[in-house]
Amino acid sequence: MEDQSLYERLGGIYAIAGVVSHFSDALLQNPKIVNSSPELKEWHTEKYKQRLDGLKFMRTLWVADVTGGPFKYTGKSLHDAHFDLHVPPEVFDEVSMELGKALDYFNVPQKEKDEVLAAFNAQKPDVTAGAREQTEPSSESSKPSYLS
Ligand code: HEM
Repeated sequence: MEDQSLYERLGGIYAIAGVVSHFSDALLQNPKIVNSSPELKEWHTEKYKQRLDGLKFMRTLWVADVTGGPFKYTGKSLHDAHFDLHVPPEVFDEVSMELGKALDYFNVPQKEKDEVLAAFNAQKPDVTAGAREQTEPSSESSKPSYLS
């Protein structure tokens, strides 16, 4: 059992896609996420209509890769994909909590749940980089323009 990848222990691509779909739908219903930044508000109230199905696909591919499945994630880096969305750290934690709830909904065992959440939470610095940049301008962007 232990020599099975996390991907296999989760039940493979169909089980993973089910969790991602349920999780992605739940985010749209959570006001802490929907109202967290102007960009996230626009995404979760308007843009999602054209983009939710594609995002579910990309998220599924990412999970299928990072858990050791036979698929390769070829989308944007998580840093670049989220930078302009300005995801605050507390919103990241709320999204992580929703992922935990989705894993519980599908009765994913505690060990596998912990492993999925650890892989997700490890991305926090990259995913929230855009919000940090907004509140703490880098020395580069605070230089007077005549120095650049
Ligand atoms: C480990 C954490 C996360 C992972 C693995 C992840 C995964 C992804 C992936 C794979 C994409 C698509 C990239 C591409 O277009 O090439 C994406 C975009 C996006 N993510 Fe995340 N994400 C994470 C955290 C978050 C958080 C905390 C939020 C906040 C609600 C969020 C909201 C979005 C939105 C709105 C998009 C843009 C979709 C578009 O282009 O229309 N993500 N994410």
